[in-house]
Amino acid sequence: MIPLENARVLVTGGAGFIGCNLVRRLLQEGARITVLDDLFTGRLENLPRKGFEFVEGSVCDAAIVDKLVAEAEVVFHAAARNIVVSTKNPREDFESNIGGTLNVLLAARATNGRVKRVLYTSSTSVYGNPRYLPINEDDHLSLLTPYAVSKLGGENYCMAFFESYGVPAAAVRYSNVYGPGQDPANPYCGVVAKFIDCLFDSQPPVIHGDGEQTRDFTYIDDAVEATVLAAQSDRALGEVFNVGTGVETRVNELAALLGRIIGVDAPPQHTNRRDVDNIRRRVVNIEKTRRTLRWLPNMTLENGLRHTVAWQRERSSGNAR
Ligand SMILES: NC(=O)c1ccc[n+]([C@@H]2O[C@H](COP(=O)([O-])OP(=O)(O)OC[C@H]3O[C@@H](n4cnc5c(N)ncnc54)[C@H](O)[C@@H]3O)[C@@H](O)[C@H]2O)c1
Repeated sequence: MIPLENARVLVTGGAGFIGCNLVRRLLQEGARITVLDDLFTGRLENLPRKGFEFVEGSVCDAAIVDKLVAEAEVVFHAAARNIVVSTKNPREDFESNIGGTLNVLLAARATNGRVKRVLYTSSTSVYGNPRYLPINEDDHLSLLTPYAVSKLGGENYCMAFFESYGVPAAAVRYSNVYGPGQDPANPYCGVVAKFIDCLFDSQPPVIHGDGEQTRDFTYIDDAVEATVLAAQSDRALGEVFNVGTGVETRVNELAALLGRIIGVDAPPQHTNRRDVDNIRRRVVNIEKTRRTLRWLPNMTLENGLRHTVAWQRERSSGNAR
C-alpha cells in the first residue's frame, strides 16, 4: 500500500465534482495536496478553504504539468472535458483528454520512479451498448462518442506507459457518479443534480428520450473510496476497475424516486434524445474491484439521493460548501 499521510499528491481537475470530493478525502488522509485545474467547469468555491495549493492552468500545458508532476509522489488525474463539450467539440476533447493525459504520463516517466502512482479516472462510457449485463472490465468495448474514444485513449496510454516504461499507472471506470458537490448550475452536470433542481422549483424533470434507458448510479463517497484504494494498492498496478454498484436503475425510476423524496408530484417531461444519449442500458460488474481492492459501495440509491437532496437544499439556501 502506498501511504498517503504526508505524501505529495497532485490532483488534476481538483476543482471539479469528483476532484473536490477527492481533495477533501485526501486532506483527511494527511496528504500534501496540489490542485491543477483550468476552471473550465471546476470552481474554486467547490474546494475547502485551505490545506492545499491551487494552480490555475491546463493539463495541455506541458511545462506546468512537468513541474507539478515532478514534485508529486501520487497523481490523481481527473481533469477532462466532459461528454457534452466533447460531443460538440471533439478537437478540444482530444487536446485535453488525450493530450493532457499524455503530458501527465510523460512527466511521470521523466521522474524516473519518484512518482509512485498515476491514477486515471476513466469512464464506463467505453462500453457503449454492451452485449451482456452486468459489464465486466474485459468485455467488448464499443466507442459511440468522441468522449468514449478520448477516455479510452487516455486509459490505453496509461497501460502502454506501464508496460513500456514501468510508469505505475492504474485506472478506474466510473459509472454515473452523483452526490454532494455536483453543481446543478453547471450545464454539463449529471441527471441527478438536474432533476433535483427542477423538482425544487416544482417543475417536471426533463428526460431525454423515453426514460426507459438504465444507468448504474454511484454515490460520490463510494467512488472516491475506490479511487483512493486504486491509487494505493499494489495489486492495482496496470489494472482497470469498474466503479459502480451492480444495480440497474431506469431514468424514469430515478425521477419518481426523487419526486417522492422531495415530496413533489411532477411527472417527468419527455423530450428529444440528445447526441450523447445513445446508451440504452448500463450496469457494471464490480466483482474485480471488490476482490482486488477489497471495496464495496456502501450507499443505497435512496440514501445517496437523500444526502444529495439535503446538500442541494442547503446549498440553494447559501450554506453548503
Ligand atoms: N461524474 C461522472 O459520473 C464521471 C463518469 C465517468 C468518468 N468521469 C471522469 O471523472 C473525472 C472527473 O469528472 P467530474 O464529474 O468531476 O467532472 P467535472 O467537469 O466536474 O471535473 C473536471 C475538472 O477538470 C477541469 N478541467 C477540464 N479540462 C481541463 C484541462 N484541460 N486542464 C485542467 N483542468 C481541466 C475542470 O475545470 C473540472 O474542474 C473526469 O476525468 C471524467 O471524465 C466522471
